[in-house]
Amino acid sequence: MAGRVDAGEISVGDKIVFSPSNREAVVNSIESWPAENEISQASSGDAVGITLKEQIFVERGEVISHSTDPPIETNVFRARVFWLGSNPLKGGSHFRLRCNTAECGVEVEVIESAIDVSEMDKIGIEQVPCDCVGDIVLRTDKMLALDSSCRIVMVDGADIVAGGLVDTDGYPDQRQVLTQKATNITAVEHGVSRKVRAQRSGHAGGVLWMTGLSGSGKSTLSVELERQLFARGYHVVVLDGDNLRYGLNANLGFSPEDRSENIRRAGEVAALFAETGFIVVTAFISPYREDRARARAAAKENFHEIYISADLQVCEERDPKGLYVKARAGEISDFTGVSAPYEPPEKTEFEVDTGKLSVEDSVEALVNYVSVRFPLTKS
Ligand code: ADX
Repeated sequence: MAGRVDAGEISVGDKIVFSPSNREAVVNSIESWPAENEISQASSGDAVGITLKEQIFVERGEVISHSTDPPIETNVFRARVFWLGSNPLKGGSHFRLRCNTAECGVEVEVIESAIDVSEMDKIGIEQVPCDCVGDIVLRTDKMLALDSSCRIVMVDGADIVAGGLVDTDGYPDQRQVLTQKATNITAVEHGVSRKVRAQRSGHAGGVLWMTGLSGSGKSTLSVELERQLFARGYHVVVLDGDNLRYGLNANLGFSPEDRSENIRRAGEVAALFAETGFIVVTAFISPYREDRARARAAAKENFHEIYISADLQVCEERDPKGLYVKARAGEISDFTGVSAPYEPPEKTEFEVDTGKLSVEDSVEALVNYVSVRFPLTKS
């Protein structure tokens, strides 16, 4: 394969990884270009061709790095951009995005801040080649390999409309949750089907995935929902974020990567329970859309995302565990809604606004929802 060394050095024998496909290989040989000499090492700025010790398939546009120092993999990140388009930039608009050698579709999810450059003239900055500088959150339609030195260009048809720098802070490196390490494994077919289990349970299994800010009421609603469904004859279990963090997820904190792993494990456990005919009610903040999408994929069927939609102000006023006060005082870092992002669902199966509804009314709405979606077949 051919390319340019963007930074650092590459040597024969180096263990390298391709991103975002995550395939590893060892460098067999390096050739310089345009003079085609075999060399043992190349460094920043060199155009080279390399061969690998293994036969692997990698797509055009992948990034090579040392296995020990890879870029992060994400499809959502913040960028500081200068806007060159003739029309104002709006949240929700779509463009093409170029980053390193990759190109993909991108949506401007949130405009977090903007500075009008003409205003900056007044404070003595002479010339800036654009009209506006802003911090925006972008969501791409494919996984990208990025680090905080990456530059991006946004294109609308034939026009370049924005350029800028990537800031990956606050969003998880999804490499770990995308990697399957084990090889030589073969899935075993089950002898008892989902359908037969549902017949015995008296209802289908499934996942009711509650997402929302801390203090929105997920735990309160989930335990009350569990109690009422159990009383009606449902096989039901709650998986709660705080509770799982004492055991299965005890080795995870609140960094973006740890939250992703927290949700990956919870999603897999929920899927296993649902497979056995249980209704699984989960109560995790689960702030990242991509993680929730993976939990949905793990469950395969009967996954219902339920947005517990009390807004930040309501949750902060409630502050049942006193955590918002601590987060505002800087005593808790990476606190969702204060110093860490929450990505609300775009569209969900069901929404309960606990800012408007009482606990009783919220639970009643949920019980009604379950009785329609998971009708009892035995009385
Ligand atoms: S998640 O973001 O990874 O889904 P999870 O639901 O498991 O979070 O845990 C959230 C709970 O952990 C909160 O209800 C709160 O009690 C506690 N918590 C402690 N630190 C934080 C933090 N930095 N951000 C959010 N919640 C926190």
